[in-house]
Amino acid sequence: MSLLSIDQLSKDDITALFNHTQEIERGNFDREAARRKILIPLFFEPSTRTRLSFETAMLRLGGQILQVPNMTELAISKGESLQDTLRVISFFGDIIVMRHPTESAVYLADEYAAVPVINGGNGCDEHPTQTLLDLYTIQKEKGRIDRLNIALVGDLKHARTMHSLIKGLSYYDVTVFLISPEELRPPKGLFDTLRQRGVSYFETPNLQEVIREIDVIYIIMLQHHRIPDQQVAERLRQRYYRITPELLRMAKPDVTILHPLVRREEVSLEVDLLPNAAYFRQAQNGVFVRMALLCRILNGSLHSNIMD
Ligand code: CP
Repeated sequence: MSLLSIDQLSKDDITALFNHTQEIERGNFDREAARRKILIPLFFEPSTRTRLSFETAMLRLGGQILQVPNMTELAISKGESLQDTLRVISFFGDIIVMRHPTESAVYLADEYAAVPVINGGNGCDEHPTQTLLDLYTIQKEKGRIDRLNIALVGDLKHARTMHSLIKGLSYYDVTVFLISPEELRPPKGLFDTLRQRGVSYFETPNLQEVIREIDVIYIIMLQHHRIPDQQVAERLRQRYYRITPELLRMAKPDVTILHPLVRREEVSLEVDLLPNAAYFRQAQNGVFVRMALLCRILNGSLHSNIMD
């Protein structure tokens, strides 16, 4: 089974995946679980964490990685369709991880590929595996996900990590604080999701107004590359959020700071020195979560009993 959207997983699926991830993190896993299996990384946009953590995860499970050339060296650059590329390439491996700037591309890939496709980020739409590692990190850092006040800060309009995370958090008994300027508010459909699932949420452009109540601050960089007018992007950048030690003095002492990275100016380097800064631990968790995910997709147990 492919994983294209976080909506494909139930809360029980996520709990089972996290139980599995915890065992992997403790070293209790089959180092040959992916023996003779080949992962195909198809990245049409840059990536450090997603691509390399999937590759590491596959190698740690005894699997192999297809050495996909730079996209400009694939026949797609001389006019081959994505459909034909996927049809052919999927004969060369057992699972595809794909990132593409177009939202529909991963769905097209899933239609034409002969093997499961994992969405490694599709345009502004979703980044479901990032959400899995984000939720796992919240659980690990705070001991729970329920009954937390979670602030999502910044470009909630363009950031696919935020879109998947809003959906993922909506399975839990949390209060979501949506903090963005008017121009960068989340798409309407995500408000519908929050309302339909009965999640309490609060919206404001002002982080300082609510920071005292927050348990987890999840901030993202301004997605300037997705804003067509660079003058608009620059104006937004100048009044964008910035997490600093001074600001954190107003917060709960144990507030957790998360960021999917790439970090630019929105978290000052001094914050890295604080125990609250969990964003590098978050990136490290990505390997364990993706190991569990690969195991479960490759052996067909993504939708599993919570007790396994
Ligand atoms: N968080 C994340 O998706 O990072 P990369 O763009 O480096 O994969």
